[in-house]
Amino acid sequence: MRVAGRSYRIGVIRGDGIGPVLIDAALGAVAELGRRHGFQLDLQFLDGGADAYRRTGSALSDAALHTVRTCHATLKGPVGLPDVRLPDGTEAGLLGGILRNGLDLYANVRPVRLYPGAPSALRPRPGDIDYVIVRENTEGLYASRGRGIGNDTAVADVLLITRPGAERVVRYAFELARRRRPAGDGRAARVTCVDKSNVLRSMYLFRSVFLEVAAEYPDVQADCMYVDAAAQALVMQPERFDVLVTESMFGDILSDLGGGTVGGVAFCAGGNIGDDCAYFEPIHGSAPQLAGRDLANPISAILAAAMMLDHIGEPDAAQTLRTAVQKALHDGAARIAADGTAADGTRAIAAAIAQRCAPEPG
Ligand code: IPM
Ligand code: MG
Repeated sequence: MRVAGRSYRIGVIRGDGIGPVLIDAALGAVAELGRRHGFQLDLQFLDGGADAYRRTGSALSDAALHTVRTCHATLKGPVGLPDVRLPDGTEAGLLGGILRNGLDLYANVRPVRLYPGAPSALRPRPGDIDYVIVRENTEGLYASRGRGIGNDTAVADVLLITRPGAERVVRYAFELARRRRPAGDGRAARVTCVDKSNVLRSMYLFRSVFLEVAAEYPDVQADCMYVDAAAQALVMQPERFDVLVTESMFGDILSDLGGGTVGGVAFCAGGNIGDDCAYFEPIHGSAPQLAGRDLANPISAILAAAMMLDHIGEPDAAQTLRTAVQKALHDGAARIAADGTAADGTRAIAAAIAQRCAPEPG
């Protein structure tokens, strides 16, 4: 039994489009968990995203960035609106460059897990899909954001891999694999390096560093796949994966592909984790076409909150929350349509999950 009265300072960026509704759903469940598990959150609401950019000229202020840096963790909704763009044509409301690079959050950790009751595009058994994509978050092709060189006729974006950058994220993946399958678990931990080292020198460096680090983890199986083959295997043999580690753009694409196999990206959350701070978010976009229509599936934000609770040291609450999601899906209180939207509405699903997090009577 843990002592009551634990308090955490949590940044909250509600974001654009469906973001606010999703984040409010997650916070409602977390408030119930606080009552049940005896902790409090000191919420710091921060203005960030495309709407903030439109109003203030900045997608996230320096003060807000500082708050994220100093909080125990931050919960962030999806950001960005297609019509809010920078002069170079890219979206102005995105926070990846500001938060991920600005705070050096090098591991983008994206669990892909099929919950019973979720409408998978495949026909797997629950348990067949349960892996984590560790996406390198500060280098790769997206390190080129805002830096592409060229003109109206030709543009070059550079894909950067450095030895220290690859090493720290690969190490993160091996440590994660060990935590997921503690000794005696019966099943071997495995990390798969996903790259394109048959074509690109940068990727050959990434794989070389992977193999060097793998040698330090003899208890963890290590293998390598080219990204195109991995895309097929994630669909045809998802059960072969445990932890994957990959470059940023590959991880971006493969994590949405993984989402498609577990009921849609609205079942997928991610943590952006560095040595000093972290934030947690749905992996999908702000879907402005769904905003205000009570259609968005809030589970991605709710699972992001569960990851955040694990990170701040409230694993029991995180588990209660995941179990609440599972129960609500199983008993039909949270019904997800085949197109990934919330069949009975965002608010109804959020309320059903929050109710299953509430303190037990008596
Ligand atoms: C994600 C998103 C972002 C990314 C976009 C919105 C910049 O797709 O987190 O997966 O590519 O990193
Ligand atoms: Mg993405």
